This record gives sequence, structure tokens and C-alpha cells, in this order.
Amino acid sequence: MPPSTRIYLDNAATSWPKPAVVYDAIDRYQRLNGAPSGRGAFREAVEVERIVTRARKRVADLLAVADPNHVIFTSSGTDSLNLAIHGLLRPGDHVVTTVCEHNSVLRPLRYLEQTAGITVTRVGCDQVGVVEPSAIELAINSRTKLLILTHVSNVTGAIQPANEIGLIAKAHGISFLLDAAQSLGHLRVSVEELHADLVAAPGHKGLLGPLGTGILYVGPSVVEVLRSHRQGGTGTSSESDLQPANLPDKYESGNHNVPGIVGLEAALGYLADRDADDARKYEQTLVAKLVDGFDAIERVAVHGPCDAARQVGVVSITVDGYDPQEIASLLDTAYSVQVRSGFHCAPLMHNSLGTKQHGGTVRFSVGPFNTFEQIDHAIEAVGEIAASAI
Ligand SMILES: Cc1ncc(COP(=O)(O)O)c(C=O)c1O
Repeated sequence: MPPSTRIYLDNAATSWPKPAVVYDAIDRYQRLNGAPSGRGAFREAVEVERIVTRARKRVADLLAVADPNHVIFTSSGTDSLNLAIHGLLRPGDHVVTTVCEHNSVLRPLRYLEQTAGITVTRVGCDQVGVVEPSAIELAINSRTKLLILTHVSNVTGAIQPANEIGLIAKAHGISFLLDAAQSLGHLRVSVEELHADLVAAPGHKGLLGPLGTGILYVGPSVVEVLRSHRQGGTGTSSESDLQPANLPDKYESGNHNVPGIVGLEAALGYLADRDADDARKYEQTLVAKLVDGFDAIERVAVHGPCDAARQVGVVSITVDGYDPQEIASLLDTAYSVQVRSGFHCAPLMHNSLGTKQHGGTVRFSVGPFNTFEQIDHAIEAVGEIAASAI
């Protein structure tokens, strides 16, 4: 029963399709404008500058941040996390993080452990991927400089108690870096409510912008100590060979990915115009449908909270008798259902989930344009595959 069109359920990797306004904005910019941002006084350059400024303001509004200049444009979630981690840590510092983190947190930390005298404590999680705040507090010592937490697990979709954990960081005078890769655009992410000093996120997942975009919010508490990871032309203070200290220039050397930011700006406009509560409810309905559907299939185990209120649009499963890679491959070739299989760049949490020996999980991740029919089709496909297992 292969359908004629693809059923894309890999929105946790990157969202697709994007809202039509995103394609239109990029096409218009590429064909009719083409100017760099912050580097010219001619009409098109001024227009681009306005779009970039508007994009920054839209991100600031989303994070409930008063000064948009504290929003830095980067090339991905990974780029944002690297800027925060490498920029902040110094030899002798201790970091508290969790086993739920993505490799874009785990690998920079491992690298700094091996090369720069940084020590790291990785706090465990329960069997659905949730971290206990008291375990975080116990891991803090007198040298702890930074606490890093992924807001939502990209493996199980579990929402972490980020505000409680942020409060712990604040009480101990430790900087708090929130990886909002899987939450921004899905959940309310308020810097103030979550007590975050830094928020890193891609622009191409829940924000619905194009690949090649990311953001880092740099709070006033860290701006003096956070080093720039690269230096160069900013289009400002051109007479000086010193890297500017003002925001956002301090962290934004080199030409911007203007087509990307133009697309992101259009996506942020789309998000601002939609009802966020309705969007969240729709996502929860899709998640509940997936969880209930998979739960009813013999040989299928669902890994995660199995409660749409406690997770975003990610549902992970394993199927007895099958390697996750085989399932993903069959889903694509026989059913046109496109998902991700394996460890999802989060290698440490599979011990707690009990999925390490399975080779990870098969991950279904929904976006705002998925339909109930597509979800039904995916469930049916998994049912047929599970029934054929020997
Ligand atoms: C939790 C988490 N953090 C960071 C990243 C990295 O983002 P990017 O792919 O934009 O580098 C991802 C991407 O999958 C993620 O899921």
C-alpha cells in the first residue's frame, strides 16, 4: 500500500515542509535583492538590514527578552552550543550536565575534558528520560561554573523540569545554558521564567526556518566573560583592528547567512501569527495518536513518557526482532514513511531507556503540517512490519 507522496516524520532532525512564506521570502531575496547585511548604504542593503533586525526582534519576543541585541545569529544549534561552551569555560572549571544531552553538548565537553582541564558530571535520568532536579543539585561543587540542560529530549520527547533546574543554578550562582533545540517553537521558552543565562537553538527545527540557521541568547550575566569564538569583519568600526565589544557584533563576524535569516524571519512571522496554544494542542493530539496506536501493537515498545502533556512531538519505539535501522528502511521503501533510527546523537541516555542493546530506537517526530491520515498510515505500517517479525 505505498502512498504516492512521502510522509515526513523526521521533524526533530529538521522540520519539513516549511511554511510557504519561507520559500517565497528566500526566493524573493535571492532573485531581487542579494545584498549583504550591515555592509552597504544602498537600497537593497538597507532593506536586508531591516529584515535581519526584525528577525532578531522576533526571536527576542519569542524568548521574552527585552534587548534583541542579545540574540546572536549562528549557523546551527551545534554552532550556538559551541560558542557558549568554548566561550565560557576556563581551565579548572567544573560543569554539571545530564546523560540526556545531544552530542553537540557532550562532544565539546569531552573535548575540553581531554584538552583543557575541565571536569564534567553527567547526571542520570529515569527510564523515560527525565532528570531529577535534586540529583543536579547534588552534583554541584565549589568549582561548578556551568549547568547545561536539554529542555526536551530529542530521543523520547520528554520535557525536563527546566525551571526548577534553572532555579537551582541561580541559587548556586552558576551560569545556566539551556539547549532549546527541541522546545523552541513547540513550548513557551521564557528566559526569565527558566532562569537561563544562555539559550541555544537551531532555526530549522521548531522555528520552521531553513537549514543553516541558529540562535544563541547571551544574557547580561555572561556577556562580559563569554569570549567570541571567531573574530573578523562586522561591517562596523571598520577603522579598528579590534573585535567590537558591543552586541551582537562581538559574536557575529563574517557575512551573515542572509538567505537563511530572511527565511527564518518569514517563519518567525508565521509562528507569531498562529495561535501557539492551538499548535501545541494539535501536536499533542498527533503524539497521543502515535503513542496509543503503537501501544496497541504486539512486539512494539514505546520509550518515553507516553503522555502528550509531558512530551513534545517525538515518539520513540523498538520492535522485537528488528533492528531500528531495518524498520526505518522498510518504512521508507515499502510505505514512504520517513523516520530516523539509531541513537539520535544522544548516546548516553540509551542505558537508562534500556534501548542500547536494541541499537537505539525508531523515532517518529511530527510537525505542524502532518495530518491524522499520515499518522494512521505510519501506525498501520509499523503494525504490518511488527506482525511479520520472526
Ligand atoms: C537536543 C539537540 N541539541 C542540539 C542539536 C543540534 O542542532 P543542529 O542540528 O542545528 O546542529 C539537536 C539536533 O538534532 C538536538 O536535537
